[in-house]
Amino acid sequence: MNMLRTAGIILTGLCLSGLVHAEYTIKFSHVVSPHTPKGQAAQFFADLVNERLAGKVKVEVFPNSQLYNDDKVMEAMRLSKGKTGLIAAPSLSKFVKFSRQLQIFDLPFLFDGISDVHKLVDSPLVQTMTAPLERKGLKALGFWDNGMKVFSIKGNQPLRNTPADFKGKKFRIQSSNVHAAMIKSLGGTPQKLPFKEAYTALGQGVVDGQENTWSNVYSKKFFEVQDWISVSNHSYLGYLLVVSADFWNILPADIRSELEAITKEATQKARQFAAEADQNDRKKITLAGKAKIIALTVEERASWRSATQKVEREFAGQIGKPLLQQVHQLLGH
Ligand code: LMR
Repeated sequence: MNMLRTAGIILTGLCLSGLVHAEYTIKFSHVVSPHTPKGQAAQFFADLVNERLAGKVKVEVFPNSQLYNDDKVMEAMRLSKGKTGLIAAPSLSKFVKFSRQLQIFDLPFLFDGISDVHKLVDSPLVQTMTAPLERKGLKALGFWDNGMKVFSIKGNQPLRNTPADFKGKKFRIQSSNVHAAMIKSLGGTPQKLPFKEAYTALGQGVVDGQENTWSNVYSKKFFEVQDWISVSNHSYLGYLLVVSADFWNILPADIRSELEAITKEATQKARQFAAEADQNDRKKITLAGKAKIIALTVEERASWRSATQKVEREFAGQIGKPLLQQVHQLLGH
């Protein structure tokens, strides 16, 4: 009996560490650190799959852009063949080639907070946004949170007034045209750079500032090379969990439904990890005392909002006016 139990424990351990042979392998590629909301959710997803689908599917997680950056991973996913599949959760801002509708998530001041985002993500409207992906080789599995973004800058003074404080300043952004338009509307100059290059670009003064969530500012040490953080909460950063459609389609139905169930659990967990990181990482940055955190006054934030309003008008045609209207209706604007 004891021997049987020991064998069971060893087997479970082997399954969890992925050493037992499995029929299908999934490589989970992402660009952030393992202890960020996405890093934790990816590991949670992998652990559940390795336990519940032991012998059938094995998931290996590759953090910190070890395997691919976000633009490359989506190409690799479309080309992947056979029983080894790729999963990734790039930020929603990186999907413009696949779905113009998803640009809605990048619009400045659309969401008043994470609960607004959840209203949209939990509504059937998101199916309209993910449908185009399927025609381009990607299957959408779920929306994972990170959080609302803040702005940081190096120099003598924080970002408060637009366009005066943004003028002549360069900001690292993700590969999103909406972000580029937003920076311009605030008075600054956008510079698209992969996440992996952001810290060095900030440190060497290639760019002056950036916008990101507390967990990304903390985990990639942006706060060490920036002087000020303005708590703008101007827009959202979240992820779309995607898998290669060819790989998904060769999986037996029972495996697919177990993976869908696990994804649902991981999505809930991702929300919890994100909410915790948002609070904890902000505290850690405050305690480190390197970048000074400033709140915007109601008037300052209102002026950012009005400066960026034209961005929605600029992208309304690409996103689709009826969809935009439905989203505003859902959010009660
Ligand atoms: C970024 O490029 O700033 C983010 O998309 C990184 C991430 O995955 O959170």
